[in-house]
Amino acid sequence: MSLVTVLSPAPGQPLFFLRGAASTYACGVHPSGLLCHLHWGGPLAPDASLAERLESGAAAFSPERRRGAALWPKTGYDTLRYEYPTANTGDFREPAVDVRHADGTHGLRLIYAGHRVLPGKPALPGLPATYAEAPAEAETLEVDLRDERENSGILVTLSYTVFADRDVIARSARITNRGSAPITLTRALSAALDLPHHRHDLLTLPGAWARERWVERAALRSGAQWIGSRRGASSHQSHPFFALLAPQADETQGEARGFSLVYSGNHHGGAEVDQLFRARALLGIHPDGFEWHLAPGESFQTPEVVLAFSAAGLGGLSGQYHRLYRERLVRGPWRDRERPILINNWEATYFDFTAEKLAAIARTAGALGIELFVLDDGWFGKRNDDTTSLGDWFVDRKKLPEGVADVGRRIEAEGLRFGLWFEPEMISPDSELYRAHPDWCLHVPGRARTEGRHQLVLDFSRPEVVDAIYTQVAKILREAPIGYVKWDMNRHLTEVGSAALPPERQGEVFHRHILGVYAFAERLVREFPELLIEGCSGGGGRYDPGMLHYTPQFWCSDNTDAIARLRIQHGTSLVYPPCTMGAHVSAVPNHQLHRSTSMGTRGRVALAGQFGFELDLTKLDEADLAEAKDLVEQAKRTRHLLRHGDLHRLADPASGNLAAWMLVSPERDEAVVTAVLALAEPNWRFAPLHLRGLDPTARYRCVHGPEGEWTGDVLMELGLPLDALSQDFQSLRWHLRRIA
Ligand code: GLA
Repeated sequence: MSLVTVLSPAPGQPLFFLRGAASTYACGVHPSGLLCHLHWGGPLAPDASLAERLESGAAAFSPERRRGAALWPKTGYDTLRYEYPTANTGDFREPAVDVRHADGTHGLRLIYAGHRVLPGKPALPGLPATYAEAPAEAETLEVDLRDERENSGILVTLSYTVFADRDVIARSARITNRGSAPITLTRALSAALDLPHHRHDLLTLPGAWARERWVERAALRSGAQWIGSRRGASSHQSHPFFALLAPQADETQGEARGFSLVYSGNHHGGAEVDQLFRARALLGIHPDGFEWHLAPGESFQTPEVVLAFSAAGLGGLSGQYHRLYRERLVRGPWRDRERPILINNWEATYFDFTAEKLAAIARTAGALGIELFVLDDGWFGKRNDDTTSLGDWFVDRKKLPEGVADVGRRIEAEGLRFGLWFEPEMISPDSELYRAHPDWCLHVPGRARTEGRHQLVLDFSRPEVVDAIYTQVAKILREAPIGYVKWDMNRHLTEVGSAALPPERQGEVFHRHILGVYAFAERLVREFPELLIEGCSGGGGRYDPGMLHYTPQFWCSDNTDAIARLRIQHGTSLVYPPCTMGAHVSAVPNHQLHRSTSMGTRGRVALAGQFGFELDLTKLDEADLAEAKDLVEQAKRTRHLLRHGDLHRLADPASGNLAAWMLVSPERDEAVVTAVLALAEPNWRFAPLHLRGLDPTARYRCVHGPEGEWTGDVLMELGLPLDALSQDFQSLRWHLRRIA
């Protein structure tokens, strides 16, 4: 049976049903010709009589239009439930798309003009996206809508991909000017839909530097509740994701609907509750600072939104995103490989290092079983602090007289692979590049160039700028034995203008810049397919699905304090699988929060993601070295669970003193369970920790961690005792294996 079913209750009014594993998405053409939303939720059998459910009636003050003795004598344009709402033709709610026409007027009304069903999933030109590896994995419905205005020539094609055996729909829109005059898009969001009621909680992931993706949840109320970034990056402050949850939904039950934008630039999204208490959800590129000039014959492609549904609460929703993102968003050979355990020198040395010092850290690392050494910021130009040299991607011979390749060879001699830090999109005013090309940064003539961390942003909307940086970076990668790159991005965009674009295209710079970032990434992964790239932006500032398409893992946060990390990692795990999440053991007192926690707890928290270290190993005492070695061994013994296991969040660090989570193998024969106590309370006992996802009849033995042997039903129904947790920052980790 196909995934997309098209029924024709009346000529020119098809109904579309997209069938997920345990969900259905349905929409159809209303008698007015408008494409309207029907259903997104549990399974619904295709049925032509459901066409009448597209009707919405009118409300007082609702714009309507008569059409002779039409089938739809009264249609309230602001009460219909749309799939892609438009501006200035009677729907007063937030539009998904708007156009300024050549005559200066704006608005459009989109009427059904045809559709097709394609096997698989077409790529989005120039944009990261989820993909199907075989045609049978997915089906794509494309619906053409044309602007009703005479001679307008605007064609909007909505794309819906439904994946077999998943509950996700990827949506995007392509807008084409088939008229004879230029038009200007003033907004072009990726997806919208009108849900039948507003009884949902809106869950978002706002944050700040060192405090990324804290979960916020509040009931929807009348009016607009938006999230958004105007920073030119997905950012620490807002995150391009939200979910609408049934009020009673929790980790394991209740309906949850997710909206995740596969994009790294500005975003705008959320929900608007209308006068009839229905909820419009939408997500896409932020309309502020966005315009796109479309000459006759040109098209604009929006990034995609991944919609996910689960009736099994937030845990079920995360499961949908985790599986799709690790299997069909991340790409390249590292997608399916276990990742190396790394040591990064940033918090160990900052800018102050020599080749000998690096080799000494690598030597200790090698003895512990660590597999990759990452040389962070400070190896290039004349960079001894953060005031200079971005854009000068050649080695600092004063600091490293024998060059980067020599450092790489020394590291390899210690038995580790070698990795290097870059920040390709940036330029320091104090750099050779800036002195040669002062117009290569984003800027507005006559306006001061605002710096952030003493740096400016290169104008990646210009292909020659992208090319020049690529040439420098690729030269280093070709010459030195480099297996890994950390790709950083340490400020947001200001004075967003380009010296290379004409006035009518200045509104395109934000998006063109991101397209340049993606073009750079695409070139990098094509020329160096074996390179493992870890994304970073002052920690997790650009940890988004767009970047994950190129960088299979992302540095989760510059905050390496184990206790603060609990909440950051918990929020991150709502959307992103643990195998994408960089997490390191750092020194104590912690450099961000000055808190001291044990090596064991720092390690157990870092073992929740792609494990590594970020401290001077040569300064550890014998006891910590032994514990670090044990952590490395645990990381190796359980990293297949990180790659393929299912995550269950067992205790939310934001709603108590305890954080707990577990990973279970798909075969349910192995699991790791971690519990971390933040602050101890007097005379207190935690209830046992109820596990999930195990085989109730199987017997499990703890092969590393507190000793014990239990059956799956006992672990799930009675729980693992937590009596041993009684001190601040204490933690436990069980590695469970099924026994015969
Ligand atoms: C950012 C990153 C850090 C480190 C520094 C180097 O802050 O998040 O991990 O690489 O830059 O300057």
